[in-house]
Amino acid sequence: MLVGLLLCASVALAQGDAKRGEYLAKAGGCVGCHTEARDGATRYAGGRALKTPFGTFFGPNITPHPQAGIGRWTEADFIRAMRSGVRPDGAHYYPAFPYPSFTRIVDQDLRDLWAYLRSLPPSARASRPHELRFPFGWRSLVWGWKLLFFKPGSFAPDPGRGARLNRGAYLVNALGHCGECHTPRNFLGGPKKGREFAGASLAGGGGSPNLTPTRLKKKDDGEVKDFLLTGITPDGDVAAESMAEVVRNTTSQLTPQDLDALIAYLRSLPPLPDEPK
Ligand code: HEC
Ligand code: HEC
Repeated sequence: MLVGLLLCASVALAQGDAKRGEYLAKAGGCVGCHTEARDGATRYAGGRALKTPFGTFFGPNITPHPQAGIGRWTEADFIRAMRSGVRPDGAHYYPAFPYPSFTRIVDQDLRDLWAYLRSLPPSARASRPHELRFPFGWRSLVWGWKLLFFKPGSFAPDPGRGARLNRGAYLVNALGHCGECHTPRNFLGGPKKGREFAGASLAGGGGSPNLTPTRLKKKDDGEVKDFLLTGITPDGDVAAESMAEVVRNTTSQLTPQDLDALIAYLRSLPPLPDEPK
């Protein structure tokens, strides 16, 4: 009995913190891509269609269901998926799963995210296969893409930058994966070097604006903050759905300190001219 208690206590210490993980999942916008876009859909049970130039991806079920979800995974499987973009059986994930950003999430945060996913109710909803254009259905091609564009490794704070800007950099580049939509891509779907956050064309029409000070300096902190909390611009325009979802799931859910850090980091980016669309 006593041994049992002691074992439980030590396991609890080694495990991640699901409550913290819940906040990190918001900062990472996980629910959006992993929940079907209809009222009453089970959160994290998969089914969201993600249109890309390579075809349509469907976010999989990541609840702890042993068959339909990731219930049989170990914490190490999860850390490898997020850090290296590799499936437990060794196959490569498509970068429609934003692991090129998530690779920067630090170990403790990954453990807390894992603890949170484990705490979700298991759903038996089967994941839907992706519908990709030839030849993108070959997962082995992703190996070449990763060789060209993927740099694994967790975030390291820049000592020259101070705690607030480092927190902002972490929220934008690791968890928030803002560059996935705001950094332009080349024809192979890799981020354009030296053009980070200059704005991009998005699949399905439309585009994302430049987030560097070239454009953002025209707005004061209050305006940027209001937009990130409500999705409404100072002129009363409502953000396009892709950004409205980021506002709903992520930026409006951040603590005031985290939102300030995120905005301060955007202000500190090198100013770049808008990407032509
Ligand atoms: C922009 C959309 C998007 C976001 C945001 C996103 N994911 Fe995913 N995720 C995907 C897609 C698409 C796949 C499937 C990739 C593939 O099949 O190669 C995936 C796969 C996964 C897998 C592997 C599931 C399996 O069955 O192999 C895990 C685990 C996962 N995501 C966790 C997360 C977590 C945790 C977050 C938030 C921190 C997150 N995802 C945010 C799109 C997303
Ligand atoms: C899924 C794609 C997507 C992601 C991810 C994304 N954005 Fe956006 N963002 C957009 C689009 C599209 C717009 C344009 C909305 C409009 O004009 O209606 C936009 C607009 C904005 C604006 C308004 C800029 C202006 O000058 O009007 C800000 C600020 C912004 N995004 C910040 C962020 C931050 C911070 C993140 C990461 C937490 C992020 N975005 C992630 C697609 C995205």
